[in-house]
Amino acid sequence: MRMYDIIQKKRDGNPLSEAEIQWFIENYVQGNIPDYQVAALCMAIYFRGMNLEETTALTFAVRDSGERLDFSEINGLRVDKHSTGGVGDKTSLVVAPIVASLGVKVAKMSGRGLGHTGGTIDKLEAIPGFNTDIPVDEFKKIVNRVGIAIVGQTASLAPADKLLYALRDVTATVDSLPLIVSSIMGKKLAADDDCIVLDVKTGSGSFMKTPEKSRELAEWMVQIGKRAGKRMRALITDMDRPLGYAIGNSLEVIEAIETLNGNGPKDLTELCIALAAHILNLAEKGSYAECEKLAKDAIASGTALKTFADMVDAQGGDKEWILHPEKFPKAKYEYVVTAKKEGYITGVDTESYGVASLLLGAGRNTKEDVIDPAAGIYLCAKTGDFVKVGDKIAVLYSEKESGFAAAEERLLNATRIETNPPKAEPLILDIVE
Ligand code: URA
Repeated sequence: MRMYDIIQKKRDGNPLSEAEIQWFIENYVQGNIPDYQVAALCMAIYFRGMNLEETTALTFAVRDSGERLDFSEINGLRVDKHSTGGVGDKTSLVVAPIVASLGVKVAKMSGRGLGHTGGTIDKLEAIPGFNTDIPVDEFKKIVNRVGIAIVGQTASLAPADKLLYALRDVTATVDSLPLIVSSIMGKKLAADDDCIVLDVKTGSGSFMKTPEKSRELAEWMVQIGKRAGKRMRALITDMDRPLGYAIGNSLEVIEAIETLNGNGPKDLTELCIALAAHILNLAEKGSYAECEKLAKDAIASGTALKTFADMVDAQGGDKEWILHPEKFPKAKYEYVVTAKKEGYITGVDTESYGVASLLLGAGRNTKEDVIDPAAGIYLCAKTGDFVKVGDKIAVLYSEKESGFAAAEERLLNATRIETNPPKAEPLILDIVE
């Protein structure tokens, strides 16, 4: 086979065979195909798309490109939850302890921030001492003992995705449906969980900007997961506004702790309870209504927060910070952004909010950037709120003052203020079984 022929075939809009897809992934991982040819193929896939059969073959090829994990030593049903990426999305930090406290095992491999979106691993690393790089055997022991562990993806898990993602990130080919499906599901299927609930984001802060595209993404991921023998469900949820008020790593951990304490923002709490209830329902813990009650009770009784603190302790972190979140240090500098106009906030460009937090140091602009855990944005007004001139819209946090002007400009340009209030939009738009 020749890579040239594969690129040409896709460029001309023809479906690739399973053998061609497997050949390309295997040879790319072995270093036999240069990045420029793979970049050309990604761009051809971006424009021409892939059908479900091709996308399934690509997903399985990514899954099989490295080590496949065996979690059979973990006692009981293993569940995972995965978000397609958003701004202020700290749901994993809340949902995973809730379900683990109710007896389903969470053996979770998470990612770092991508582009304007945050990542669970970066957030957890804001907790002093927390180790996200634990050998697989130790990881399985923690899951058996505590019910939950969250670590980063090992280097040997789906290496094809590591190469492809880095290339897509710099060739404007991230937001391609078959490439997102194979990236996310390739990694998920290389781990060994029984049930997977996907939080597929839609709107200005997500990779798929329309509900139609997000629904298609959800349907394909669910179908491919089922073909691989997993119990699957996907929720399509709104990312036309950040989730909760906190954007940035330690700010988000604090908000997750508040939510586990029963004092979280309404939208975040609603989504976390729904995701937890769907996971528990998929794990046959009861009807959806019963599982919703179980999830709410796990928060009210404090067991979910205790499980989170126990996980932090087991992974080398200081659990006192979870029980006393006031210990998280504030950033050196704060800057208040105020409204320049009176009216209702009728909508925001959520991606720009994510970019503003990157400018403050909460994410990476290059692979080498070191994250500032305390940097980020705390929103004081969100879509639907009425503001007067001079009212606080947000507080920006950073270790250096130099990012404030650009972040403020981004935030103000991204915030639409109008005379009439916006129509209230639901947080959960659809469920795909
Ligand atoms: N998350 C991933 O892991 N991959 C994508 O392509 C998009 C979001």
